Amino acid sequence: MKISTYKHDVIVVGAGLAGLRTAIELSDKLDVAIMSKVHPLRSHSVAAQGGINASLGEDDSWEAHAFDTVKGSDYLADQDIVEILAKEAPRAVIENERWGTAFSRTEDGRIAQRPFGGAAFPRTCYAADKTGHNLLHTTFEQALRRGLKFYNEWFVTSLVRSDDRICGLTALELATGEVHGFAAKAVVLATGGFGRVYGHSTNALINTGDGCALALRIGAPLKDMEFVQFHPTCLFGSSILITEGARGEGGYLINALGDRFMDKYAPEKMELAPRDIVARAIRTEVLEGKGFEDEYVHLDLRQLGKEKIIERLPGIREICLYFAGIDPIEEPIPIQPAQHYSMGGVHTDKHGATLVSGLFAVGETACMSVHGANRLGGNSLLETLVFGRVVGKAVAEYIESVKSFNPAVVGQEAFDFRERLQTLLLHEGGDSTANIRETMGQTMDVLVGVYRKSDGLEAALKMIRELKTRFKNVSVGRSDEKFNFALIRTLELENMLDLAEVITMGALMRRESRGAHWRLDYPERDDKNFLKHSLFTKVEDYIKTELTDVNLGMFEVKERSY
Ligand code: FUM
Repeated sequence: MKISTYKHDVIVVGAGLAGLRTAIELSDKLDVAIMSKVHPLRSHSVAAQGGINASLGEDDSWEAHAFDTVKGSDYLADQDIVEILAKEAPRAVIENERWGTAFSRTEDGRIAQRPFGGAAFPRTCYAADKTGHNLLHTTFEQALRRGLKFYNEWFVTSLVRSDDRICGLTALELATGEVHGFAAKAVVLATGGFGRVYGHSTNALINTGDGCALALRIGAPLKDMEFVQFHPTCLFGSSILITEGARGEGGYLINALGDRFMDKYAPEKMELAPRDIVARAIRTEVLEGKGFEDEYVHLDLRQLGKEKIIERLPGIREICLYFAGIDPIEEPIPIQPAQHYSMGGVHTDKHGATLVSGLFAVGETACMSVHGANRLGGNSLLETLVFGRVVGKAVAEYIESVKSFNPAVVGQEAFDFRERLQTLLLHEGGDSTANIRETMGQTMDVLVGVYRKSDGLEAALKMIRELKTRFKNVSVGRSDEKFNFALIRTLELENMLDLAEVITMGALMRRESRGAHWRLDYPERDDKNFLKHSLFTKVEDYIKTELTDVNLGMFEVKERSY
């Protein structure tokens, strides 16, 4: 087998909005390549529905946007970073609009904005309920226009460092099954979130946290991994996202007794409280026996009327028709919470730099931390575009500073990885990838979900560690080289098991309730001990955990009510 080594100044891993925007920023300065395990237009950004936040309204301001974000984060967001997000938001939205994104419009031709959870103003710009689809196509076009080099359908298998800095990576080409080395002075991880660690998730099957696992393995710490967002309104049965925009347009949540129950949990904001609060409210109603079939509640859109549903929520109507046989113009939608977003990720500074020189992270892969303990809807698309630009600039500066660069080890690493794959492919007996993955998903859903407590978390950690042991004897089931998706699923599973362990360790360690992390045995927020970020570093065979300070700033830490 021939092992070749490719060379670029920078490799961006992941071709969703964050990766593309970062690469675009670098395109006229450096030799940049983008590597993705799927075609860029299949990246998960394409699935974002409801919109992107920017304080464009006359009464709105970046300060109000920043305050809502910090309060929504349960005060765990770093306020200096939130300031960048909120200040840069209008520029990011207008830039994409000029590139061609077809935002929905007001009567007088301005970009339309809808109310979203936890926001003081209608701040969420949207393109019907297909905002991510629009933004991704526009941004991809810009990347093509700039002649960026793409390696589509390549799976990154390891990061390589020498002389204490990143010098490249190894990657498997799906079409041939060959592993190659890539020398690069900088690598940017933009692989999205790790939602598929859970069984019930709105995430695409590709969201397996590969970037986070690669970073952990090479010694870059992960941060705030216990903060996993559960979106309140996911279609019962399939967990397909039903956008917050549906509530923003006037949808109600109704329990089996016919009550619009959010008045008990968030009397002012009702259905437009932040996601952590709405998800807990739904789970509580079901646990108290007020759900349908002990599983779900209703999202009722009928009061919006046919015209509004068809104009503003056409994709939601299609999803309900195709996947549940329900027309939301006529009937309420059965919904329940499911995993949606990873607030945690690779620990970076405000420029996306990790603690490993030359390794950067951006978008959902990164934890900068701009969302703290709970992200507001509409801030995720925004993060990709704002920080893609910021990180691109920082990478360019870093490259200027690299005086010596020694990629000689990259080829050997690729060779070693190829050997490991051969052994893995030929191994027989042991568990199947699918079995281990299913048990992992169920364990995380049940024991590390919306509500957590110590005995459940301990049981989950024990199970995940047992699954890691069983994985050592995993059987891929197919040994062919070309497009061996069974192999890719197995490598993804290895990544996810590492992350499941860290998420659960973080949830056990954090003996308080904050944002999306709710401990039934510690139901209060504990600022004295836990107004802190958690950091997880792999040291040989164990994970070192520690707590670090939050950057507070213009907004005083207060009790959070809506
Ligand atoms: O509900 C939604 O449309 C999701 C938006 C987001 O996660 O920001």
